[in-house]
Amino acid sequence: MIGDDTHVRNNRTRWNEISDDYQRFNAPQIRGQAFTGDITWGVWGIPESRLNVLGHVVGLDVLEMGCGGSQWSTALARRGAHPVGLDLSERQLHHSRRLQRETGLEFPLVQASAEEVPFAAGSFDIVFADHGAFSFADPYRAIPEAARILRPGGLLAFGHVSPIYEISIPDGAEAAGDRLVGDYFGLRLISDTDGLVSANLPYGAWIRLFRESGFVVEDLVEPRPETGADATHRDNAEEAWARRWPSECIWKVRRV
Ligand SMILES: C[S@@+](CC[C@H](N)C(=O)[O-])C[C@H]1O[C@@H](n2cnc3c(N)ncnc32)[C@H](O)[C@@H]1O
Repeated sequence: MIGDDTHVRNNRTRWNEISDDYQRFNAPQIRGQAFTGDITWGVWGIPESRLNVLGHVVGLDVLEMGCGGSQWSTALARRGAHPVGLDLSERQLHHSRRLQRETGLEFPLVQASAEEVPFAAGSFDIVFADHGAFSFADPYRAIPEAARILRPGGLLAFGHVSPIYEISIPDGAEAAGDRLVGDYFGLRLISDTDGLVSANLPYGAWIRLFRESGFVVEDLVEPRPETGADATHRDNAEEAWARRWPSECIWKVRRV
């Protein structure tokens, strides 16, 4: 699978199939931010105001990689940024257009893969995603693309499932157990039970890839839910897991 774009074609088909359900059941957790501008990260909904990952965005050119229904980009437009929403799936972009009609906030929407984006070098101040394209694209293609289109000093920030969580999911299960069961050093493109191909790397490989692509690592945020966190479709066992171990991580790396 690695070295061709089978995973990209697979994921485009699959996201088109599951997009309506995703927007119905998962996206409501972040829908509010499109109307208030109050952004929250990850499945545990930790506020940007606490994590300070993106920081000041007024007047900045911001690309959301894997924007889905564009709830994030809409919130950033509300906060004074100039967002562009990019996604692989035409059905997800259909939901983005629907939200634009609802809010009256318009910005460019582009259909492409994060592995090959149709923008000139140095087009953006921030490239970011929250469980977006960097969770599904081959990191060895997507990270150098992000570096290419960022201006010097630009920020790449993205949240995704942690490598530890990734290797704790037993075969056929949908959530992590309390044992390491997967092959840590084999992480790259992973066939999931829901038919998607997701992406991840060992921590050291992420850091080497960032450095080789021209980034310096500023932070690796490991969001930890409060007890009783309000997260869609997450039960008490998953919350308990995420209070013991890092279920997600947010990379914050800067273009040299
Ligand atoms: C889990 S959804 C998250 C969307 C949005 N960030 C949210 O929180 O609702 C992941 C998105 O990434 C998109 N995606 C997957 N692979 C991609 C790729 N190679 N390039 C661009 N987008 C991709 C999917 O179509 C989907 O809309």
